[in-house]
Amino acid sequence: MSKGEIVLGALAPHPPHVVYAENPDQNEPVSEGGWETLRWGYHRLARKLETIDYDVMVVFTPHWQTYVGTHFLGVPRFSSKSVDPVFPNIFRYNYDLEVDVDLSEAMCKAASDAGLITRMMRNPDFRVDYGTITSCHMMNPRWDKPIITISSNRNTHYYSPEVMIEQALALGKACRTAIEDSGKRVVLVSSHSLSHRHFVTESPLPEDMSKEHIYNHSQYVWDMALIDLFRQGKMREAIDIMPEFTEQTIAETEGGGLVWMMGAMGMPEYPAEIYGYQSVIGTGNCIAAWVPHSDKREIVL
Ligand SMILES: [Fe+2]
Repeated sequence: MSKGEIVLGALAPHPPHVVYAENPDQNEPVSEGGWETLRWGYHRLARKLETIDYDVMVVFTPHWQTYVGTHFLGVPRFSSKSVDPVFPNIFRYNYDLEVDVDLSEAMCKAASDAGLITRMMRNPDFRVDYGTITSCHMMNPRWDKPIITISSNRNTHYYSPEVMIEQALALGKACRTAIEDSGKRVVLVSSHSLSHRHFVTESPLPEDMSKEHIYNHSQYVWDMALIDLFRQGKMREAIDIMPEFTEQTIAETEGGGLVWMMGAMGMPEYPAEIYGYQSVIGTGNCIAAWVPHSDKREIVL
């Protein structure tokens, strides 16, 4: 068996608004569109993924929050309706997805062997979070590949951002070991936005783009500082400023997704592909991808 590998890692924000705006059959509410800059960026990334051979998508989400250790999906199939708790008016999504339980168990064991507290999620009635569903839908709307979701252990809140970074890096390294041993080709997904201050009232028409803008200028400046490091391939520096970035922008980076992905990818020193940046209810959302094979890497934006 040949050695498995990570073929792409994506920062994939999950505002349910982008799924709402797409009007897929799975989602009940109907929209008139909206947030095109982000959606067109996702379309571009989805087209690229169709040219890359991969077996499974592994998602780290901040909306499956676990306080005792890191949990992994461990049931072959989940089928239910996902309703966004904050936006039930725009996201009521009927999902039916497959899980690569073998690789999920292998990652769980590798993380446990590395000293992390882990658990497999075996409840067939478990409701998969909307972060996983939104990112996966936008990256692979055909849902023709199995996925694995990894929970976000709340280390930032229970301990500190520094403890979160240390544990997320260790989790990433363990996942990489399991992936290499599996012989599989894997896409990693860090499902979250960047700056996360958001409006507390919704316009009468959610997709009214005349109402959409970044929450304030400092959030924009912070997001651009981080994206500039992505572009320069300075991920060590990006992780170093993560505690301050997270505190200043209330960012979803607190969950550990990006740190986990960088740990798994060996802290890339090559430029990220940038697919788009746009505000959703005031939050900053960047779609970016890191591609280890230089012949598959390109300048997108
Ligand atoms: Fe979120």
